[in-house]
Amino acid sequence: MNNVLLATDSHALQERVHAAADGACITVPATPLSVEPAAFLGQLRGAPLPDIVVLDTTTSRFEALELAAGMDRLFPGTGLILVGIADGTLAMEALRAGVRDVVPPDIPVDHLRTVLARVGEAARARRVPTPVPVGTATPEWVPTIATQGPSRVISVLSPKGGAGKTTVATNLAVGLSQAQPGSTVLIDLDLQFGDVATALGLEPEATLADIVIHGNHVDPIALKTQLTQHASGLLVACAPDSPAAGGAVTPEHVGALIEQLATQFRYVVIDTAAGLGAHTLAALDHTTDPVLLTSMDVPGVRGLRKELDALHDLDLLPDSRKVLLNFADPKAGLSLGDVQATIRTRVDMSLPHTKAAVVAMNMGVPLVNHQPRDAVAKQLRKLQASYLGAVAPGRPSRRKVVS
Ligand SMILES: Nc1ncnc2c1ncn2[C@@H]1O[C@H](COP(=O)(O)OP(=O)(O)OP(=O)(O)O)[C@@H](O)[C@H]1O
Ligand SMILES: [Mg+2]
Repeated sequence: MNNVLLATDSHALQERVHAAADGACITVPATPLSVEPAAFLGQLRGAPLPDIVVLDTTTSRFEALELAAGMDRLFPGTGLILVGIADGTLAMEALRAGVRDVVPPDIPVDHLRTVLARVGEAARARRVPTPVPVGTATPEWVPTIATQGPSRVISVLSPKGGAGKTTVATNLAVGLSQAQPGSTVLIDLDLQFGDVATALGLEPEATLADIVIHGNHVDPIALKTQLTQHASGLLVACAPDSPAAGGAVTPEHVGALIEQLATQFRYVVIDTAAGLGAHTLAALDHTTDPVLLTSMDVPGVRGLRKELDALHDLDLLPDSRKVLLNFADPKAGLSLGDVQATIRTRVDMSLPHTKAAVVAMNMGVPLVNHQPRDAVAKQLRKLQASYLGAVAPGRPSRRKVVS
């Protein structure tokens, strides 16, 4: 059975929807109709998220379409139905807003029951991960997919600053989000000097500090509305505005936030601050796929070796880990063999130094979109492809307590 949330002012429609949903329906007024999904769903007063939302456009057509578009973006696992006269314009606008069906106000109960079953089924299917071939173009009206199911938590870390964590994390997250719309959230866990927002040209209205101060890291609806959306569709939990504001976020908050997001997104990508601080360790406790990064210089490589040893001792180094060598340069005075011998493990991927990587970061645009043929962009696409469609590895057991 599908739980339905209906917005209408019509008593007759309310009766028909209740009958078709076998009573599993909550009705709220259609005037005024909030265009904000959080405010609209707040009327549920703690009831579970609906499988289907039915919006009566008779009184509030513009608001209903606006709300539908927001719902489709934030809650793609909920099916949307509009009630109204499906003239060509409404049908087209509804399609663009992610609506699954437009039904007339006088639809017979039996017919409506069939529509609810079909839309409920489609919504359920969208909660199951569906691999999409890399690089598949997705028209904006295709329903979003893969927001629930086994998730992968991919944390990008390096012992030293400036190794390329933000470059890798942002491009990986944008790529995953484009390959599987609605699948990916990016957390900027560099709480003091995070620059994901700058790298992606975002102007966040809320940051991680706002999210945790209001306790929204454990409230799925409020949490989603406080994420910032990138043009690619990627949702981002941006770093606090200042190092002082970052102090509001504790390692416990980080763990709870990741757990919450992992129930809603197939991919949770985390950009971290250099080193193994308490927040990064909290993230690693929930990470399925660590990505360890170093620049191609002796201090960086030695630092990575120590980081690998520390993570091994803490049982935080699953086989799914990847090691990336950034700024790889055959003339750097170090060979790949030297690096692998020092870190005592293989390097999974090398990224050269390219001008395009610098330019994209300075322009606040993802390199994989800005210069897809750039050598670094190509490598980052390969990294992205390695996560698509593959089965998520199990999370590591909680780390050992070290004194
Ligand atoms: N392969 C590359 N080629 C050229 N420039 C790169 C490359 N990777 C990263 N950069 C540049 O190096 C600088 C540091 O990169 P980035 O911010 O991604 O590193 P980081 O590890 O996140 O740094 P921090 O520790 O300060 O957060 C940026 O200006 C970025 O554009
Ligand atoms: Mg960074």
